[in-house]
Amino acid sequence: MGYSLVEFCHDVRAILRERDDRDGREQVRQKLEALLRDPGFCATHVAPGNDAGMEQIYHDPELDFCVLAYNMTEPRTSPPHDHGASWAVYGQAAGHTDMTVWSATGDAGALEPVRTFRLEAGQAGLFDVREIHSIDYTEGARFVRVTGVDMTGEERRVFDPETRAP
Ligand SMILES: [Fe+2]
Repeated sequence: MGYSLVEFCHDVRAILRERDDRDGREQVRQKLEALLRDPGFCATHVAPGNDAGMEQIYHDPELDFCVLAYNMTEPRTSPPHDHGASWAVYGQAAGHTDMTVWSATGDAGALEPVRTFRLEAGQAGLFDVREIHSIDYTEGARFVRVTGVDMTGEERRVFDPETRAP
């Protein structure tokens, strides 16, 4: 049975109204994996026909969560960053993304890697509020990101990738 963006957003609304905590966000992560299994969704939002770059495909007027589609042509490694007060769920549609989670427990607040994992197509990963992470994706990677709030204008921490200092 298919699963559409409309159904996904409806489910996310219901989940977050019930519990906007780590367990709720884990449920959102699982729903995003279900959405990525829908060929219709992928063909519309994360496929070669899409313009390169990022597009916001949903913003909830009441709860403020956002769904963003990324159709990237060039490979990229992001600096370690968080999303301020927002959690984020990343779901891979094509290619893969290597994720690193960082902790700021090193000397002078410098970052140390805590764990790494790879998101293959069809897999989604959760970064909770203020969890520092970096992403490294392949040429032609396509993915979907759900954020707890609209990140436009939101404060976030970005760390120097060389010195790992804020
Ligand atoms: Fe991020």
